[in-house]
Amino acid sequence: MCGIIGYVGPRDSVPILLSGLSRLAYRGYDSAGIAVCHEGDIDCRRAHGKLENLIERLKHDPMRGRTGIGHTRWATHGRPSESNAHPQRFGKFAIVHNGIIENFLDLREELRAHGHEFVSETDTEIVAHLISDCYDATHDFAGAVRMALRRVRGSYAIVALCSDFPDELVAARNQCPLLVAVGEGENFAASDLAAVLAHSRQAIFLEDGDIAQIRASSVVITDLSGEHVERKIQSIEWDISAAEKQGYPHYMLKEIHEQPQKITDTFRGRMLEAEGEVNLDENIEKLHLETCRRLQIVACGTSYHAALLGKYLIEQYARIPVDVDVASEYRYRQPIITPDDGFIAISQSGETADTYACLKLARQHGAKILAICNVMDSSIPRAADATFYTRADPEIGVASTKAFTTQLASLTLLAIHFARRKNAIDVATAQRLLRALRAVPQQMERVLEQSDHVRACAQKLLRANSFLFLGRNLHYPIALEGALKLKEITYIHAEAYPSGEMKHGPIALIDDRLPVIVIAPKNPTYEKTLSNLQEVKARGGRIIGIVTQDDDRLTRVCESAFPIEDCEEIVQPFLSVLYLQLLAYHLADLLGNDIDQPRNLAKSVTVE
Ligand code: F6R
Repeated sequence: MCGIIGYVGPRDSVPILLSGLSRLAYRGYDSAGIAVCHEGDIDCRRAHGKLENLIERLKHDPMRGRTGIGHTRWATHGRPSESNAHPQRFGKFAIVHNGIIENFLDLREELRAHGHEFVSETDTEIVAHLISDCYDATHDFAGAVRMALRRVRGSYAIVALCSDFPDELVAARNQCPLLVAVGEGENFAASDLAAVLAHSRQAIFLEDGDIAQIRASSVVITDLSGEHVERKIQSIEWDISAAEKQGYPHYMLKEIHEQPQKITDTFRGRMLEAEGEVNLDENIEKLHLETCRRLQIVACGTSYHAALLGKYLIEQYARIPVDVDVASEYRYRQPIITPDDGFIAISQSGETADTYACLKLARQHGAKILAICNVMDSSIPRAADATFYTRADPEIGVASTKAFTTQLASLTLLAIHFARRKNAIDVATAQRLLRALRAVPQQMERVLEQSDHVRACAQKLLRANSFLFLGRNLHYPIALEGALKLKEITYIHAEAYPSGEMKHGPIALIDDRLPVIVIAPKNPTYEKTLSNLQEVKARGGRIIGIVTQDDDRLTRVCESAFPIEDCEEIVQPFLSVLYLQLLAYHLADLLGNDIDQPRNLAKSVTVE
């Protein structure tokens, strides 16, 4: 995810900005840049790729200035490139921005009609133009930022420089973290404490709608209408390495807890509940995948589990036949692909060699190709006709968590979109499903509050050397994903079966040494699963259940039961998988394993 740092004070800001950016690098980025106010103008240097490229550029073309802003960018609007890197400049302004401006297309058209021309593909540049227009009318820096942001819809953390105000930064926040770190005769703005902890341990965490006017010796905060607001200065006790993980002991746990926010981000601007419609990028719409004879989804690992869920969802709601394959199998089994087929490649990294090879095969046979991907402009999106970007931000923990749930969010939206286009569901059904999805992030938060309860359960399972995961229908891919998470980071054997398949073989394994993790919330297959569990119970098996809240019948058969709220079936996988991620995490932690870098695993598998 992008990172922001700003400085105003007596020192040269350039080294402070660079060291702040290096502290933000752990978040992942594809370009970086800084800008400073100097002698009535703004100087700016940006570079594509690693921070070292920016540092190298500054060696050959140095600059200095006492007020400055810096940014590490992780592309969302527009490819990773120097021209799309931040700071984005226009007129007397330079700005850095995290987040997504939802109405940027409308704003861009409006500004174009007034003669504005743009040099980048970013939504951020639009904001710089908007601020500049507002400034022309007022000559008030903070006032212009306020006026411009009243026109903006979406999420942002923004820090701006104005060459007419060389001793001032203006920072604004809406739904993206931003703080002001208070120093001795100097102040900082940052998206993340890690960027500023070396300089200050006193921070003001801005709230949505706040605009901060930051000078070396003062910080004045108002709301968007200019009304003064009070914010407390808080003392920070974290050490720097903890701050990078935002206080979590591992990236994986941090990423598990980030999921409600990442689902909100992935849904942002794409759900039109009132109309019962899903709003997709024009490129995706133009593919008309809903008219395809058949959809083929290909992926590896966790992304393959998301693909399996996609099959259930698309077939159930849109009534389009869907085949799902593991990429390494698909590419060598001489699959039948025709130009009437739609092909969907799912990949967090966008670089997985097998998935990429399958995509190229589908291309040779003339299929229409959609990528579902997290990393912008990586190989798979570049080779696809269109890409649905998950907005999980960089995933650092090797065991995938937030990439999976955002892939699931993407597939859910696609299923509803195809279903509406084919008239396979009516407007009222789509409205109901979209409303249910809107509530997912809060419901996820409530599941995550159960983390200690899951840890206590994990404590009792420490001696197990094998696990069986069971689920039916939408919960079978979740069972597979739970077993994979457990294997990856605990190194304990686990396998998953569709609950109804248990009596065809695996039931022979059941005894009191094999914990059976079953996902069985109330849905149309609930009664069937309950009978399967009676079979486990009758053979002395230990059952750990994920159950609908207040489901006493099932809770009674379980050694431990984890509740999810009574909700639409489409919502249940988002909640049940969190328990399985937490269970794997806590077991691995109690076993003392290296959770973020489990043995033998790599984050991006670019070899066959
Ligand atoms: C599991 C995991 C892997 C990846 C797989 C595909 O936690 O991370 O199984 O899901 O290697 O990677 P992507 O999605 O990058 O293609």
